[in-house]
Amino acid sequence: MNTIVTLDEFIIQRQKDFSYASGELTGLLRDIGVAAKIVNREVNKAGLVNIIGVEGSENSHGESVQKLDMYANDKLIDCLKNSGECCGIASEENESFIPIKSVASKNAKYVVVFDPLDGSSNIDVNVSVGTIFGIYRRKSNVKGPCKLGDFLQKGTELVAAGYVIYGTSTILVYSTGSGVNGFTLDPSIGEFCLSHRDIKIPARGQYYSVNQGYYLKFDVDMRRYIDYCSDLNLRLRYIGSMVSDIHRTLLVGGIFLYPNTRKYPNGKLRMLYECNPLSYLIEQAGGKAITTGMERILDIEMTDLHQRSTIVMGSPDMVDEMKAFVQRYSIPAVSKNSANGVS
Ligand code: AHG
Ligand code: MN
Ligand code: MN
Repeated sequence: MNTIVTLDEFIIQRQKDFSYASGELTGLLRDIGVAAKIVNREVNKAGLVNIIGVEGSENSHGESVQKLDMYANDKLIDCLKNSGECCGIASEENESFIPIKSVASKNAKYVVVFDPLDGSSNIDVNVSVGTIFGIYRRKSNVKGPCKLGDFLQKGTELVAAGYVIYGTSTILVYSTGSGVNGFTLDPSIGEFCLSHRDIKIPARGQYYSVNQGYYLKFDVDMRRYIDYCSDLNLRLRYIGSMVSDIHRTLLVGGIFLYPNTRKYPNGKLRMLYECNPLSYLIEQAGGKAITTGMERILDIEMTDLHQRSTIVMGSPDMVDEMKAFVQRYSIPAVSKNSANGVS
């Protein structure tokens, strides 16, 4: 029989791989694992909403029923506040970052960023949703409160990132910069157990993943590339929960795209809570992540907590091919002008 390795055991075994070799990051990852179990319990009850009360109402115990994304947000904040390792939090659900007072006079060295519930529009129809997180080492003095600059760090500065997918199984996937590992929650023992060791993304895959409904809103280069994917007989898969689409891409390969549209001229997905943590994982697994302007996501300068970006990510050969395709077929500005009779 194979020995079960729990998330906690694995984190402790791997502590030495982490360049700052300390228990602090270990504690933080453990706290995120605990929050994930609590969120998982609640997500699994989502179908009972008409029995236990709709959001905004009171349930049979006289407690008010919260929207699940706010519930997940609160639980993550609570768990991280108690850890003593985290001096600040930035969440997709909060306009500003939240400084955390030191616990037991500890000088917390990390800030945590997260999308507490990604794909939340899918909850009511029982489709997988997830939690995405990233951890940065603070830049400001450990003796004072955290500052905006602690959060506005490039993705290359991440010291850890991961996600939890609440799907057919609940799986936590994370990296601290030396590979990517996945843990499946065994509900009978309440533990995340190592199930996907050292995940490597295939060089190419069968799927392309994009909201094809926006086809006419994409730039012509993107439309041509999407036609090319269809021409290659690639299969279209788009769940509309980024975590779920990226989880599939990580395991079986493929390419995921969220280009700019007329509604979202800079792209829809958020750098801090979605693009950077997931790009870090994809790169750690051997994949690539760039903007439609061909810039590496992790190299993008951060200026705003809720900054958005376009994104193209997934199997390395497919991302390279997309880049080559767009560069080969993009209409040079000069010929666009001369076609209009402008020299
Ligand atoms: P969130 O639920 O955190 O707001 O994120 C939704 C995001 C992402 O998960 C998904 O890939 C994308 O929005 C889907 O957007 P479209 O419906 O515009 O395709
Ligand atoms: Mn999201
Ligand atoms: Mn969200």
